[in-house]
Amino acid sequence: MSARWEAGADLVVVGTGVAGLTAALDAAEAGLRVVVVTKDGVAEGSTRWAQGGVAVVLGDIAGDSIEAHVADTLAAGGGLNDAAAVAEIIAAGPAAVQRLRARGALFDGDGARGVDPRHGSPTLDRTREGGHSAFRVVHAGGDATGAEIERALVEAARSLTILTGHVAVDAVRDVSGAVAGLQVLDDRGRPGLLRAPAVLLASGGYGQLYASTTNPATSTGDGVALALRAGAAAADLEFVQFHPTVLYTGPAVGRRPLVTEAVRGEGAVLRDRTGTRFMVGQHPLADLAPRDVVAAAITRRMAETGADCMYLDATGLDGFAARFPTVYASCRAAGIDPVRDPIPVTPAAHYACGGVVAGVDGRTAVPGLYAAGEVARTGLHGANRLASNSLLEGLVTGERAVRSVLEDRGLPRSAELVVPAPAVGVAQRGIVQRAMSAFAAIGRDATGLATASDVVESATLLATPLDRTGVEDAALTLIAQAVLAAAGTRRETRGCHVRTDFPERDDVWQKESLVITLDEAGRPAVAQAVAA
Ligand code: SIN
Repeated sequence: MSARWEAGADLVVVGTGVAGLTAALDAAEAGLRVVVVTKDGVAEGSTRWAQGGVAVVLGDIAGDSIEAHVADTLAAGGGLNDAAAVAEIIAAGPAAVQRLRARGALFDGDGARGVDPRHGSPTLDRTREGGHSAFRVVHAGGDATGAEIERALVEAARSLTILTGHVAVDAVRDVSGAVAGLQVLDDRGRPGLLRAPAVLLASGGYGQLYASTTNPATSTGDGVALALRAGAAAADLEFVQFHPTVLYTGPAVGRRPLVTEAVRGEGAVLRDRTGTRFMVGQHPLADLAPRDVVAAAITRRMAETGADCMYLDATGLDGFAARFPTVYASCRAAGIDPVRDPIPVTPAAHYACGGVVAGVDGRTAVPGLYAAGEVARTGLHGANRLASNSLLEGLVTGERAVRSVLEDRGLPRSAELVVPAPAVGVAQRGIVQRAMSAFAAIGRDATGLATASDVVESATLLATPLDRTGVEDAALTLIAQAVLAAAGTRRETRGCHVRTDFPERDDVWQKESLVITLDEAGRPAVAQAVAA
């Protein structure tokens, strides 16, 4: 891709969600020349759709502690978390949330009840979600936490340089392999080059790999694909978290309305169509079991009863419309009154527990390439993310990544650039989504995974992406290949990865994550697998 225009910066941030804007604001405050790139409008990423909240221990809830939050995160993560990353991110949570509040985000309860003497700040309302042993999730606008965080950060970032309508194509590296810039295409397909010694990927996940997802149209895995092509590694890609409850309104493709777990946190229960509470006896926390357990139980019950959905009974909750205005509005738009009727729900693809291998400090294996938020695999989530740990991770790792960029400043870059090969494998998005939904969702087996691989393989052609759609389709194709390779290799059931042919957890697979890199032909390969 020969650039029509060139510009320079100290740091290019890809993505305008919680991690990206936190990083961009910090970098600008530290005096860096920052350019933020987003392929859509400034607030169109995943952050604004987050409902439940931010899991954080502020020290004012009796019986709760950082240690308890760490223990819940490890229990949810199925033995694959990086314990040091978990401890570091959770311990950094209170300060990160206070900084976000200082940037203008208003949480429910803010200012309502006076000042908590331990923090010098007003006590906030809390809710609980699956897998949490305490009410520790702070929220905003009832169930509009992401929207409030995005609002505050976008407002704070008004003076930053933000290139909307520009999709990140590839990192440009110098002859030593270090990042020297980013190739982009604008929304008319015009190429540009942002020269910079640091590129921070904060571009979110890949929920659009599946036909039905809680994720917006932007979540196409571009960041993971870009990082793999730049020589970085990805890990834990097989752990695609399905949210147990999205509003079911019949078969549909694309983003589905989320019904936050906080509805169950506040007392709603799951029932099948006969009214039976099927989560009781499945897990000590019943309806508030970790997300992987609930999503798998719903999927099983649907298969056993031949039903298209299960039901979330929130009819006993007081003040539903005020506490959950977003969910209430979605239900009403679908002709459902959640105050009187159980809400029809199914699981849908929600969150990438894996991603680009990065430290809590954002550094990847490629000098100058950083990753933060959902695009990154820091080890916080392991095999299954604990609810509301994602906004927390974005806040902490966005900030830490900028510290790394500042520390790494001045490392030499050669003027001689290596231009990435323009042609990549691209399959039609609908084919990829159908194959992944049929064979690589909740409940996978060797035959289905092989079928999906064959389908994706035979649909893939070599092409040069010329616009946003082309870049996204190429990313989805590569991520599908990578998820299928990892899911086929991991012959056990753990967390979000449910193998019907290997239904038990097998701790032979606990030693390390499956790491994916690209081989010489540019195809994803499992570079490191535990011995079976
Ligand atoms: C939810 O509100 O249920 C989603 C929160 C999350 O994904 O962490």
